[in-house]
Amino acid sequence: MRYQDVYEDWKRDPEAFWLNAAKAIDWDTPPTRALFDDNAPHYEWFSDARVNTCWNAVDRHVEAGRGEQAAIIHDSPITHTKREISYVELRNRVATLAGALRAKGVEKGDRVIIYMPMIPEALEAMLACARLGAIHSVVFGGFASNELAVRIDDCKPKAIIAASCGLEPNRVVHYKPLLDGAIELADHKPDFCVIYQREQEVAKLTEGRDYNWHGFQYGVEPAECVPVEGNHPAYILYTSGTTGAPKGVVRHTAGHLVALNWTMKNIYDVDPGDVFWAASDVGWVVGHSYICYAPLIHGNTTIVFEGKPVGTPDAGTFWRVIAEHKVRSFFTAPTAIRAVKREDPKGEFLANYDLSNLRALFLAGERADPDTIEWAQKALGVPVIDHWWQTETGWTIAGNPLGIEELPVKLGSPARPMPGYDVQILDEGGHPVKTGELGAIAVKLPLPPGTLPTLWNAQARFEKAYMSHFPGYYETGDAGMVDEDGYLYIMARTDDVINVAGHRLSTGAIEEVLAAHPDVAECAVIGVSDALKGQMPVGFLCLNSGCERSHGEIVQDVVKLVRDRIGPVAAFKSAVVVDRLPKTRSGKILRGTMVSIADGKDFKMPATIDDPAILDEIRDGLQSIGYAGAA
Ligand code: COA
Ligand code: AMP
Repeated sequence: MRYQDVYEDWKRDPEAFWLNAAKAIDWDTPPTRALFDDNAPHYEWFSDARVNTCWNAVDRHVEAGRGEQAAIIHDSPITHTKREISYVELRNRVATLAGALRAKGVEKGDRVIIYMPMIPEALEAMLACARLGAIHSVVFGGFASNELAVRIDDCKPKAIIAASCGLEPNRVVHYKPLLDGAIELADHKPDFCVIYQREQEVAKLTEGRDYNWHGFQYGVEPAECVPVEGNHPAYILYTSGTTGAPKGVVRHTAGHLVALNWTMKNIYDVDPGDVFWAASDVGWVVGHSYICYAPLIHGNTTIVFEGKPVGTPDAGTFWRVIAEHKVRSFFTAPTAIRAVKREDPKGEFLANYDLSNLRALFLAGERADPDTIEWAQKALGVPVIDHWWQTETGWTIAGNPLGIEELPVKLGSPARPMPGYDVQILDEGGHPVKTGELGAIAVKLPLPPGTLPTLWNAQARFEKAYMSHFPGYYETGDAGMVDEDGYLYIMARTDDVINVAGHRLSTGAIEEVLAAHPDVAECAVIGVSDALKGQMPVGFLCLNSGCERSHGEIVQDVVKLVRDRIGPVAAFKSAVVVDRLPKTRSGKILRGTMVSIADGKDFKMPATIDDPAILDEIRDGLQSIGYAGAA
């Protein structure tokens, strides 16, 4: 079958399409139907089924004879260790961990926060929650205490599972003090914490609250898989919104299982038993879907990689891992390939490794620039596939479904919509624009299985953020166009989200931190183009009159403040002090114009600008920190 036939098959009868895909899942009670639209425009999938995610990701593969196959390969060039965990070992480890959580009172529906680095225990913690029907929320290690505290207060976890430390190439990330700080800051207090002590740093445990990962599991009764309703939340994953308060994206159990399993063959073209590697982090959606759940649900071997594309120890690390573990499909962010290309432009490291098992490289998380794609195509000699998706969708909205048909690649486009997604480009009034014209990218409701049904405890915010602007559609927050062959082009965000090294950040959230500085009267943050990371945040500060401290000191303060409040992942390193911000006569800050100046792009003077002379000061400020065409 070809892509067009599969897409039309879905469009003709979505119900039959998804019920057919659902046959690949082991149900405790099979669904009687796929879509539940009684509550439209709120949709659910397979709600009347009963099923367990951990059973489908782990136990059923043992029953089916894959017990000895590696489920997880941990490869850590930072600690110089490699380790394999078979499916049978994984089942035993997860059942015991789940048993220990249950013995301390964790049950179906309870929330559990997981704050761990790239070690197999992070996946085991996620799966142990799934085994009990507990709802996990994984928090990325690059976030500071304050961000963790906000998530604790929002999802109110009964337990927190953490590691003693994470390892960045240049430093140890002390998780435990960050965790203690977060619990201190939060109003909600978890009943208990479980700490996995890594040998690189043994953390001090808080008596009566913290348990050691191993001791806590000693002698407990392993837990069986608890079947849950199809619409039971499998997890909450927080992502940047337009304010400092992150959005808790909810994922329902059954749709997640069906959709992710479907993608493994149809999009990534892997068969059960193949090795699949997503070089991301479990703290992001790519890590949830393609380090943990999808490969395991599909009976693949997944790689948990604790390292960086460069410097651990060199720009050949990715190729070593692919060669050594016989990776068939590899998924990473364009930034990672740009980092490799910058260090090894001629791809000389490739000569040291046998990559004959590799069939394709998949890129997502940010725009894949044509140079990077072409470099990778030439270096690897396999299809390089851009695909576009979001935390909210959990899997590809538009891509090139290699397992169905390899569509011709058009540089700069993540190709075509996947079955389940009726993608439309709309004008401000919600009307479809002509082919080739720019507009807001929206998806006609219902969204397919596996996508977000709501935000945790924030139904009104969900409606306002995604459903209110274009009734009958899901608003993606991206702008772009479709060409005459139906290929999508993702051009920009329509909100304040920026993308730094494949990490999604809200400029609004950074502005909230800058505004909290006592000397700052007003501020703005923009994302400027960066050759490596795609974008970098830059701040503009207007100081209170009478402030006598040096501008340099205040910039240093705010850089530290963002690192302490949001975390190192914000990569906030530059700010300039200016007298005033450019605004429209009605007071709206002209961020788009500032971005054009920073990127050295031509722009039209906004007709509504209050005082055009301010732009010269903005240009000077940007040049002083190396942007706006600075030599
Ligand atoms: N825990 C703690 N800190 C972390 C972290 C983690 N898991 N991940 C990143 N950080 C820190 C980094 O150490 C760095 O701190 P520093 O300011 O002290 O140097 C900071 O956050 C910024 O990190 P990053 O933007 O990733 O920059 P980098 O210079 O460390 O690395 C790349 C640059 C390109 C190598 C790296 O960004 C990369 O591998 N990107 C791929 C992104 C990716 O996989 N995204 C997932 C979406 S698919
Ligand atoms: P996240 O939720 O962190 O995965 O970020 C999702 C956002 O990243 C999208 O809304 C896009 O703005 C951007 N993005 C992800 N993948 C792509 C892609 N392939 N091309 C362009 N932008 C992308």
